[in-house]
Amino acid sequence: MRILAFETSCDDTAVGIVENGVRVLSNVRHTQKDHDAYGGVVPEIAARRHNEVWRQVLEDALQQAKCTWDDIDTIAVTQGPGLQSSLLTGTSVASMLSLLYNKPLIPVHHILGHVTSCALDRGISLERVQLPALVLTVSGGHTSMYLWKSAHDVQEIGKTLDDAAGEAFDKVSRMLGLGYPGGPIVSRYAEKGDRRSFELPYIYLEKESLDFSFSGLKAAVKRIVERNHPELLKEGAKDLPETPDIQTFRANICASFEYVIGKIMIKKVGRALECYPEIQQIHFVGGVSANTYLREQLGMYAKRSRRAFSTPIDFGYCTDNGAMIAGAAYWLWKEDSSIAKIQYVEADTKRSI
Ligand code: KG4
Ligand code: ZN
Repeated sequence: MRILAFETSCDDTAVGIVENGVRVLSNVRHTQKDHDAYGGVVPEIAARRHNEVWRQVLEDALQQAKCTWDDIDTIAVTQGPGLQSSLLTGTSVASMLSLLYNKPLIPVHHILGHVTSCALDRGISLERVQLPALVLTVSGGHTSMYLWKSAHDVQEIGKTLDDAAGEAFDKVSRMLGLGYPGGPIVSRYAEKGDRRSFELPYIYLEKESLDFSFSGLKAAVKRIVERNHPELLKEGAKDLPETPDIQTFRANICASFEYVIGKIMIKKVGRALECYPEIQQIHFVGGVSANTYLREQLGMYAKRSRRAFSTPIDFGYCTDNGAMIAGAAYWLWKEDSSIAKIQYVEADTKRSI
């Protein structure tokens, strides 16, 4: 069963082709650079770019997979949640192709794509993934923990009450006069810094809470920047020359920030294991799971907790991508083949998992 999937929920135009839910034949993504200057995604710009590039992305995905439309059994698309104007490109194009080529279409929840992304390209069949799994999904738009029992039974057990962790990375990068997306930049600086150089707050919330909160941490970073290098907060800070002093400061604050994020994640995963001892595996997915330090920390913790630990095998499966949507569609279809039908799918920004 070959599924071709579209993912256009935010600022990436992506198409992936996956065989039997795990074997990735192609995973093509166009990342919009236009938003860098604004420090965040501008919906109008994102929508325009999706419309401009989807055809090329689709053609590249088919070509890389060495497929024609005859080789594709089913189409899938991210139905929501996401930006309405961005989702519209994916849902309209996928629906029209479904009607044009008489191919069944499966609508997919964006998060289910992230949730199932660890299974991609592992050379295993889906049956070997041990469930229930705890899935820590961390990106620029979401930070949540899910209990994954089956494709039709994914329960959110904790979520951020304010910023997503990826958003916090992006904002810290901005406060330091650095670029967007902030995650990879902050983590590059952090490698050279001292993780204990700045005292930042560990916000764990109430004793039993499985929720997250990062706004206090972000505010604490801002206060430290204001005290030490206020010039970095000003317009145009990006163009300031990087003196050794600024370089050390950036490295130390990034390292301290990453250290606290790691501690918070470990604490929350630990609480989830206490509440749901039936959890077999711990998965760390979403854009922030590309972070090497956080992978190491969570991996070590999982080992101590005697649980298997998994992250997407390729960084291209961490951030938003088409392969994860095709993979998730296969899980859904295996459990209920009636969901695949020739149809027109409407975007649904409020879709629940
Ligand atoms: O999953 P994704 O592509 O989009 C959303 O659904 O939000 O994730 C993008 C987020 C951005 O906030 C980016 O800063 C973060 O993932 N990110 C990272 C790293 N690479 C990307 N955060 C921390 N460390 C990284 N290496
Ligand atoms: Zn995402």
